[in-house]
Amino acid sequence: MSNYHIKHLEEYYQVYRKSIQEPENFWEEIAEEHFVWRKKWDKVLDWDFNKPEVKWFQGAKLNITENCIDRHLATRGDKTAILFEPNDLNEVAEHITYNQLHKRVNQFANVLKEQGVKKGDRVCIYVPMIPELAISVLACARIGAIHSVVFAGFSATALATRINDSDCKMVITADGSYRGSKTIDLKGIVDEALEQCTCVETVLVAKRIQSNINMKEGRDKWLQPLLDKASAACEAEIMDAEDPLFILYTSGSTGMPKGMVHTTAGYMVYSAYTFKNAFQYKENDVYWCTADIGWITGHSYIVYGPLANGATTVMFEGVPSYPDYGRFWNIVEKHKVNQFYTAPTAIRALAKQGVELVDKYDLSSLKVLGSVGEPINEEAWHWYNDVVGKKKSPIIDSWWQTETGGIMITPIPYVTPTKPTYATLPFIGIQPAIMDENGNELEGNQVEGRLCIKFPWPSIARTIWGNHQRYKDTYFSAFENMYFTGDGSLRDEVGYYRITGRVDDVIIVSGHNLGTAPIEDAINEHQAVAESAIVGFPHDIKGSALYGYITLKDSGEDRNHDNLRKEINQLISDKIGPIAKLNKIQFTEGLPKTRSGKIMRRILRKIASNDTSNLGDTSTLLNPEVVNDIIKESL
Ligand code: WTA
Repeated sequence: MSNYHIKHLEEYYQVYRKSIQEPENFWEEIAEEHFVWRKKWDKVLDWDFNKPEVKWFQGAKLNITENCIDRHLATRGDKTAILFEPNDLNEVAEHITYNQLHKRVNQFANVLKEQGVKKGDRVCIYVPMIPELAISVLACARIGAIHSVVFAGFSATALATRINDSDCKMVITADGSYRGSKTIDLKGIVDEALEQCTCVETVLVAKRIQSNINMKEGRDKWLQPLLDKASAACEAEIMDAEDPLFILYTSGSTGMPKGMVHTTAGYMVYSAYTFKNAFQYKENDVYWCTADIGWITGHSYIVYGPLANGATTVMFEGVPSYPDYGRFWNIVEKHKVNQFYTAPTAIRALAKQGVELVDKYDLSSLKVLGSVGEPINEEAWHWYNDVVGKKKSPIIDSWWQTETGGIMITPIPYVTPTKPTYATLPFIGIQPAIMDENGNELEGNQVEGRLCIKFPWPSIARTIWGNHQRYKDTYFSAFENMYFTGDGSLRDEVGYYRITGRVDDVIIVSGHNLGTAPIEDAINEHQAVAESAIVGFPHDIKGSALYGYITLKDSGEDRNHDNLRKEINQLISDKIGPIAKLNKIQFTEGLPKTRSGKIMRRILRKIASNDTSNLGDTSTLLNPEVVNDIIKESL
């Protein structure tokens, strides 16, 4: 029996049990039956969480693009692989078939080769949500270059940090991008970033907004003329199972972003298998994930997972509010979308607009609604379920991370009964554990603690680029022999998981993970600032928003605080990106500190949330008197 497609609850339990009791046999069968290999593996799994080291399908040879494209050509050549919906409602959508995708990826791959990119080289992709983004990702994979996609909303400084960290040889970008009614000068941002990078030899520029941009002689090249000349045949590079496929940066608790490294075979198997089941994708369904390919959700569930299953995957260039807040539903109706995957922050923003904008459209094609990126609150869950899904499309609240590569805890639609705000059951092969602060596993149901995973799954990130020690310290040191997620979770009376949020210094704002340290570093660069501390506070659309407590070098009595606030937010925008701007800034005389000098964020978090009734023990503070001042002046 094939366990590839799970259709009812008993089957889930049966397959789950097998995946836990005999993980190697289980994954071997899935890999064997549902993918194409140039050579099979010698060993299914090797692992040691203490080193840490995880290897899946060692010795196997493959190319992921042969699995995502070539093998479908015989049966699905004329099927739409990528359905591109442009920002502007009046621009026609583009249907890229598997045959066309094959041609375009090969041409792009040949251009990369011509420009000197080789297997193992890093290529930074800073491209908006246009077809060239997905195609350049696949073209890198075709020739074995390691792609590092940087979300095209990051600032020049953030881009430069990422380019330098992984020593990228090439940057792929566009002249600019459309975002609702605005255009963004992407190439200008790249130019500014590259002033701080010496590793980049070539910049390929796609034309999107037809703006006048500077092209640096010898470095910058227009993409289209090169593609026009390139051959449509490019042999796929044969990769080892454990060769890196991509690097994707995620924020951490310290300043430098972490370049999570995903490898080829395990990532392919797990992203494809989870896609098939978590969305119950059936041939001829139209699937749409609204994420940007600059995030892991886009990597796994716009590009690799759907294409490995021969699916039709929608790529939307624009924003949910343009030309109005009915745009998502307009697209669902227009393309008869069957599976729709978005983030709670978008759901909350749309729910604010009232039901008329939803009811205007025919949403009867919808079968599955997905949510990802942060906990979905009860109100948003019900609105999604009732107003969008008309109570007939199950919501999959899927929990996972950049580091996990694929969905880890989720209901399987039409299989797992859903429960509002619960991610419900572990996916096949996933062994979660809830730990207390002393490192003991909390067995049984109705427990709450820190979420860990006990056993490797195929798409676990293998390392942090250039810093294996940090990988170990961040994920494998808090609890012995466990992968620590950084999230809190509870398990209810029937064994369903509910993710309660981050337990570290990462704050999720509108679904984007933001480390507090890099934001504080940016603020502290302002000449008037002595010190700062950032915490999250509840926000009805963003989920969490940022509250900054800032002390000034000279107490700032005669300064114009509003101007200072603007300057500080501009600085953050320049260093990180507009997504990291602070919602509230409070200037204070001091920050509450422990005797060892650590800022007590726990107290600041409570004050920012207007929850000052029980601040806990403040007597151990070095300067308890500042707490009252901060409360008095809190915004
Ligand atoms: C949070 C996104 C609650 C969580 C795929 C995790 C969630 C972080 C959920 C990873 C969910 C993601 N319920 N919280 N369904 N999904 N998270 O790396 O805190 O961008 O650790 O990956 O988002 O965010 P990342």
